[in-house]
Amino acid sequence: MKQKKLLYTGKAKSVYRTDVKGKLIVEFRDDITAFDGGKKDTLKNKGSYNAGVSAFVFSYLEKNGVKTHFLEMLDEKRMVVCELSMIPLEVIVRNLAAGSIVRNYPFKEGTPLKPPVIVIDYKDDSRHDPMLNDDLTVALKIATPAELKRIKTIARKVNALLSGLLAKQGITLVDFKMEFGRQGKTIYLGDEISMDSMRLWDKKTGESLDKDVYRFNKGDVMVTYNRVAARITKKPGAAAKKTVVDPKKAKPKAR
Ligand code: ATP
Ligand code: TYD
Repeated sequence: MKQKKLLYTGKAKSVYRTDVKGKLIVEFRDDITAFDGGKKDTLKNKGSYNAGVSAFVFSYLEKNGVKTHFLEMLDEKRMVVCELSMIPLEVIVRNLAAGSIVRNYPFKEGTPLKPPVIVIDYKDDSRHDPMLNDDLTVALKIATPAELKRIKTIARKVNALLSGLLAKQGITLVDFKMEFGRQGKTIYLGDEISMDSMRLWDKKTGESLDKDVYRFNKGDVMVTYNRVAARITKKPGAAAKKTVVDPKKAKPKAR
C-alpha cells in the first residue's frame, strides 16, 4: 500500500490517502497537547505507544463484535483504516467522576457512576467542544435520533469490554473518549483509543497511567506510556511492536 496525499493534520495524528480507494493511513505522531492546545510537546516514541494500544484495543473490540475502522498496522506508527464520514462528536463514557465533571459539577473525584454516564461534546475546536444534548444534536443535524441511540449502545458495549480487559491488567478505566463515523448507514468506531483518550488509574496505587501525567506534571509521561502500553498489550518490555494482519487470513468485513 502506498501513502498518498496528506488529507488532514490534527493535534496528534496525520491522515493520508492511499492508493486504495476507501482506505486511509492514520499516522500517530509524537506530538502531545493538553488544555485545548495550550500545552504542547513532542515526545519520542509517544506515537508508537498510542498506535500500539489503539491497534490492540480495536482488534479486541472487533473480536467481540464491535465494528471499528481498524484494518492493519503498516509499521509502529501508521495504521491503515477504512475511510469514514466522521460524525463531529466526542462521546465520553465515565465510570468514576474525574476531570471536567468534577470541575463543572458537584461530584467528588473518584465517585463511582453507576450506571456509567455518557457525555457527548460537539467536536469543534473553535467553540471549545461544547457539551450537547440529544435535542441539540438532532437539531444541528449531526445525527438522527436512531443514530444517537445506536452510538450510545455501542459506547456502552465498548465501555463494558474495555473495562473488563483493563481490569485484568489491574487498571481502572475511569473514563474515555470515542469518535464515530459512517460508512453508508453503518456506524463504525473510528479515531483512536489510547492513553491520550482514556483516563486510567492503577487499581492498587491509584496512580495515573494516562495523559493526566502530562497535563499535571505528575512524572515522566513517556515512562508511564511505555509501561502502560506493555501492560495493556501484555508485551513484556517494548510496548510498540508491529501488529501486521495478514490480509489473506483477516476476516473480510461486510461493508
Ligand atoms: P482532537 O485532538 O480534538 O481529537 P484533532 O482533529 O486534532 O482533534 P487528531 O487525532 O490529531 O485530532 O486527528 C485525526 C483526525 O482524523 C480527527 O479529525 C479524526 O476525526 C479523523 N479520523 C479518525 N478516524 C478516521 C477515519 N476512519 N476516517 C476519516 N477520518 C478519521
Ligand atoms: P474530560 O474529563 O472531559 O476532560 P479533561 O481530561 O480535560 O479533564 O475528559 C474525559 C475523558 O475523555 C478523558 O479520558 C480524556 C478524554 N477526552 C479526549 O480524549 N479528548 C477530548 O477532547 C476530551 C474533552 C476528552
